[in-house]
Parts: sequence; structure tokens; C-alpha cells
Amino acid sequence: MIRTRFTEEFGVEHPVVQGGMQWVGRAPLVAAVANAGALGFITALTQPTPEDLTTEIARCRELTDRPFGVNLTILPAINPPPYAEYRQAIIDAGVPIVETAGSNPAEHLAHFHAHGIKVIHKCTSVRHAVKAESLGVDAVSIDGFECAGHPGEDDIPGLVLIPAAADRLTIPMIASGGFADARGLVAALALGADGINMGTRFMATVESGIHDNVKQRLVEAGERDTQLIFRQLRNTARVADNAVSREVVARLNGGAAFEEVRDLVAGARGVGVYETGDLDRGIWSAGMVQGLIRDIPTCADLVSRIVGEAVEIIRGRLGDAVGAQPVAAG
Ligand SMILES: Cc1cc2nc3c(=O)[nH]c(=O)nc-3n(C[C@H](O)[C@H](O)[C@H](O)COP(=O)(O)O)c2cc1C
Repeated sequence: MIRTRFTEEFGVEHPVVQGGMQWVGRAPLVAAVANAGALGFITALTQPTPEDLTTEIARCRELTDRPFGVNLTILPAINPPPYAEYRQAIIDAGVPIVETAGSNPAEHLAHFHAHGIKVIHKCTSVRHAVKAESLGVDAVSIDGFECAGHPGEDDIPGLVLIPAAADRLTIPMIASGGFADARGLVAALALGADGINMGTRFMATVESGIHDNVKQRLVEAGERDTQLIFRQLRNTARVADNAVSREVVARLNGGAAFEEVRDLVAGARGVGVYETGDLDRGIWSAGMVQGLIRDIPTCADLVSRIVGEAVEIIRGRLGDAVGAQPVAAG
């Protein structure tokens, strides 16, 4: 057992989180993560309507009696999804924890807090983490440059970002981006975090509902097999290296406008990768950490392996290193 402020304050057995994942964060995965003693998040916007989200939360409850949360990703959009209705569905369902991400969560925070719901805000910079703490969020999840999805525009890897944020925050902090194993968990704790958040690693589990070809690709891919798209648009996203992501990067590097890549990056094509296993069908998110993924375990095996080996590293390798020093007299 590893106890941290996060496990204590959020009532979760292990300091391990499965962050929101568009098209991936569905009930069977989230319930498996919860049953493994970690904290999983259903991704609200994967559900086409707020009513579908209500159904998905109920489906998850049938699969676990342990706590789980919902991710609400707030993105600027010309035609935004009905955020207030998704928020209400979360509140009405009595979900205890929400992960917000994207834009400033202020608008939603008061509503969640009024119903006793804890909010973990995920962000990619120290200044945004400090801002989120000042707004009153209950914890911060901070994504280093390694992460899948949106790493922001500062390009600060976790090794600097996590301790820099730890120095400025008083609320619990979850380190995110690039974590897959016990070494990462121990490192995150050493850097001042209270737990780790993983996306890519949880994609390659038995219970994640994506096509086996995608899981197998994550096992085979190395740490260099990602692309950063939309750099020119200041909306960077780290995605799997494939024919489509390379084409998007080439076109934008050549001066193309967003309109000229819009078809290539369409969500409908991306979700097709997960459904059909055609790895070149569209854009799909994956992090550098795929270079550390070598198997497709159940969530229970993955979480217990990470926590069990972390304890061994702390008590064994690290403890031995300290124990080898002569004890000071006096
Ligand atoms: C397939 C996929 C989809 C994701 N979609 C979202 C999302 O909709 N909202 C969000 O806040 N984060 C999203 N993320 C980011 C994860 O929650 C997490 O922050 C990130 O994966 C951590 O980096 P890692 O992949 O190196 O573990 C996604 C990640 C992946 C792999």
C-alpha cells in the first residue's frame, strides 16, 4: 500500500488515475480501473448526448461498487457541446469526482462543489495549476510534454514541470504524461506528486474497448513513434505516428491552413481506428510512453504490479542505497 494525500482525500486505494480519453474512456475500462483500486474517469464527450452519459454512468455502476469519476473536457468551439447539460447529468448521477481539462473550469466548479463533488483540474503548466488552485479546485493533475493528447505549447517535460509545480501548490497534485510502470510512480512521488495519471498505458489493457490492432501497435511502438500535430495553430496534440499524422504535419509545415487538413483530422476517422483496427484510418492519441509498454494486462494486474513493484523499489533498491551509507554518530 502506498498512502498519499490523494489516496486519503479522494478515498482511492492506490495513487493511480486513468485520465479522460476520448473514444476510450467508457464504462468497462473505468469500472475495471475502479475494481483495481485506482481512479478511472468516464469521458463525458465520448457520449453523444448528456442522456447517453447518464446511461454510461449507470452501466459503470453495474460493473463496480467502487468510486469512479467523469472527465469533462472544456474546449473552445464554434458550436460547443451542451456543457451545462453534461454537467447536470454528472451532478444528477451523484458522481463523486470530476476531472476537468482544457479551458478554465471556473464556470463549472461552483456547481460541482455545491453538490459535494471534488474536482481535479488537469493542466499543462505551472501557471495554470496555480490559477486552478486559486479557483478552489481540490487537486491538480499536471501533464508534461511527454503526454498523449494536448501537451500545451510550453514543451516542459515532467522531470522539470512536476517539481516546479510541487513547489507552488498546496493541494494534492497528480503527475501525468509518460507514466506506465512502478519506476514512474516512484519517480513521481519523489518529484513531489501524490500520484500518477496514465492514459496511453490504460489503452493497452484487456478491458479497454479498442481494437486489438491498436493495443498491439502500442506494444510494438517505440518512444519515438508519435507526432506533434497543430503546432502551427498553437493547439498542439501528441498523436500516434501514422500515414495520416505525417501528412497533417507535412501539409501544415508547407503552409496549409486548417481547412486543408480538416478532413484528415476528423473525429469520425479517428474513432474508426479504434473500431476497425485500421491504424492509418485517422488521427489517434498516443504518448511517448508507448516505448515502455510491452504487454496487454488486465487493469487489476497492471495496477497491482505498478504499486507492488513501487513498494519494492522504495524498500529495496532505494532503501538499500540509503542503508549502505554509514549512520552518523550521535
Ligand atoms: C486516446 C486518448 C484520448 C485522450 N482524450 C482526452 C480527453 O478527451 N480529455 C482529456 O482531458 N485528456 C485526454 N487524454 C489525455 C489523458 O487523459 C492523459 O492526460 C494523458 O494520456 C497522459 O499521458 P500518457 O498518455 O503519457 O499517460 C487522452 C489520452 C489518450 C491516450
